[in-house]
Amino acid sequence: MFVPLATFLLGYFLGAIPFGLLLTRAARTEDLRSIGSGNIGATNVLRTGRKDLAALTLLLDALKGTAAVLIARSFFGPDSTLPLFAAAGAFLGHVYPVWLKFAGGKGVATYLGCLIGLAWPAGLAFALVWLAVAALTRYSSAAALAASALTPAILWLLGEPAAALLYLTLTLILWYKHKGNIARLRAGQETQIGNKG
Ligand code: G3P
Repeated sequence: MFVPLATFLLGYFLGAIPFGLLLTRAARTEDLRSIGSGNIGATNVLRTGRKDLAALTLLLDALKGTAAVLIARSFFGPDSTLPLFAAAGAFLGHVYPVWLKFAGGKGVATYLGCLIGLAWPAGLAFALVWLAVAALTRYSSAAALAASALTPAILWLLGEPAAALLYLTLTLILWYKHKGNIARLRAGQETQIGNKG
């Protein structure tokens, strides 16, 4: 019980680092919470007009998830299920960070980063679906919703049932966190990538 909990907490505290907020505050851009969707993720950082900070936010929010999984893997080996606890912790840390009174991001980059650490072909599939839907629609949210909807099935097909089950849960949380985006998409009012909204 102690080891899974410690592994989860390692992931949680890595995931809870709000890179989007830290980078934009350091660069003294507009306050992320008061522009666009108010989210702390890379899509909203892009709305400050700083592409460099948006790219760095995406990279760091993903890397913290990959790091959590790879650290757990290096301790417990590739066949252990403990890296799944690190992935769950990192995703939930990003979405519900204690430092921000549990009001964090929508989890997409960290979801992807953990996935790359757990099963990189599934991470690649996620990235390709995200890019295809984003290119077609210019909606970051629609791209994330589509890519995450397919991920549990892809993990299952790759012979990773435990990861598939975890990702089914993470996908449900990700979709829940996008409920505002889903309502805007349905109403034709979602902001396209790069637009201020
Ligand atoms: O990664 C989050 C994205 O799916 C939506 O972001 O700021 O448009 O709500 P945003």
